[in-house]
Amino acid sequence: MKVLMIGAGNMGFTFAEGLVASSIIKKGNLLIYDKSPELREKLSDDDRFRIFEELEPALLMTHIIFIAVKPHHAEDLFAEMKPHLHKDQIVVSLMAGVTLDFIENATGLPKVVRAMPNLPAKVGKGVTAFTETKDVSKIEQITIRSLLDSTGVAIHVENETFINKSTAISGSGPAYVFYFMQSMFEAARKMGFSVNDSKVLISNTFEGAVQLFKDSSLSPEGWIDRVASKGGTTEAAIDSMKDNNVSAKIKEAAYAAFERAVELGQETK
Ligand SMILES: NC(=O)c1ccc[n+]([C@@H]2O[C@H](COP(=O)([O-])OP(=O)(O)OC[C@H]3O[C@@H](n4cnc5c(N)ncnc54)[C@H](OP(=O)(O)O)[C@@H]3O)[C@@H](O)[C@H]2O)c1
Repeated sequence: MKVLMIGAGNMGFTFAEGLVASSIIKKGNLLIYDKSPELREKLSDDDRFRIFEELEPALLMTHIIFIAVKPHHAEDLFAEMKPHLHKDQIVVSLMAGVTLDFIENATGLPKVVRAMPNLPAKVGKGVTAFTETKDVSKIEQITIRSLLDSTGVAIHVENETFINKSTAISGSGPAYVFYFMQSMFEAARKMGFSVNDSKVLISNTFEGAVQLFKDSSLSPEGWIDRVASKGGTTEAAIDSMKDNNVSAKIKEAAYAAFERAVELGQETK
């Protein structure tokens, strides 16, 4: 099975690396086409990939085509691709906000998958929600899942509304975590910890909490109860957050991201 990655910037390159590191793609079967001559030149020495100078020959020999260009480049790219496509090919779009309908119409291909990855894909800890048009068979769906799993874990969702929802939870989610980390970092620095000690204190706290959550059936609320004893320090912090409505504000923020994802989808219709 040959896979073509169109666009090898941040996300495209991350997936290209994940795919070649997995056992699914054999050496020489990961093709890359990027418009940028500088990027092609940079990648040309990397023997994990086959770099193409032209789009057409790469399209003609692939079955699965990943799209990882910015959404505003989609229309021109699809127009360039269309004359060289055949109905059996599957397009897997990693682009935010570009709908299945749009891709189907612009490429003329009935088999389209829309996936929403997130940044931790860079370290093999990503989560990618995906859904597809009805022409994608169950077997093809399983193949796509295994390809998307190569950068972490893939989650199949019922329809595109859930792609917009996952954009709001996991797609933008790392930034919410960094926002919280930044506040903790500033508090640690204000208390007098060095930059390095602050980094260790915060990153290990997050990592440890995530591991506890993953390894048990307790909810985050259940874990808060375990940490916070009556009249103790944690209770003081949690009470302060409750008084300031922090939970409601975080939910509001996630919904703001969801609404924006819906709007972006409507703009490309
Ligand atoms: N980065 C993330 O965390 C993230 C998360 C979720 C989803 N995504 C999605 O992933 C997609 C890519 O984002 P990115 O951050 O990886 O962008 P990026 O770093 O700008 O990479 C896009 C690459 O595609 C190239 N390109 C543009 N038009 C092309 C064309 N017609 N044919 C071939 N290559 C072309 C660009 O070249 P030039 O620079 O010369 O234009 C660039 O090298 C976006 O649609 C985004 O919504 C990204």
